[in-house]
Amino acid sequence: MLGADPNVEQSQVSQDIERVIATSEQIAARVKELAKQVGEDYAGRDLLLVGVLKGAVMVMADLARAMNRHVEMDWMAVSSYGSGTKSSGVVRILKDLDRDITNREVLIVEDIVDTGLTLHWLKSNLESRGAKDVQILTMLRKPTAAKVEVDVKYVGFDIPTDFVVGYGLDFNERYRNLDFIGVLAKHVYA
Ligand code: IMP
Repeated sequence: MLGADPNVEQSQVSQDIERVIATSEQIAARVKELAKQVGEDYAGRDLLLVGVLKGAVMVMADLARAMNRHVEMDWMAVSSYGSGTKSSGVVRILKDLDRDITNREVLIVEDIVDTGLTLHWLKSNLESRGAKDVQILTMLRKPTAAKVEVDVKYVGFDIPTDFVVGYGLDFNERYRNLDFIGVLAKHVYA
């Protein structure tokens, strides 16, 4: 035996998904719409996309490629302190931007807004560095996001509060590579 049977691995992954929230086709169509909207809103303006690692990698790659204009891309990695799976809003920067953003028009690209605490902190942090404008695009938004005052300009899909994975979103660093978004089955983490 040379290694694990890839077919067994594959079927195990699909058993871990309770239901599909968005197929790869639905995601592709929605990202194209978002790119068109962003392209129109930022016509003739500067645009710096700031992706939040690692979850936003997929949406950033697809969004940027769907835009027929110049965009710059930079990345931040942040870690949100909290108890268990709850975000506290206290954020530590693990990887900062490479470039100065003074006077830049920034669009933060995020995978999901849950409580909104992380994005609330990130938006004020980037504003305090002298950015001309800071807006937010998120692929997914949960209803819990309404609890925190965070102004999200572009939303891919509004979803229920279930824990979802795929298209950049992980559970213990797995499932990010799924080309669809699905609800993780309880047996995986219960
Ligand atoms: P919050 O908006 O500050 O609560 O935190 C958002 C972050 O929590 C996201 O960037 C994700 O890393 C993580 N997160 C929240 N909900 C989910 C989910 O359903 N699946 C995977 N990660 C999630």
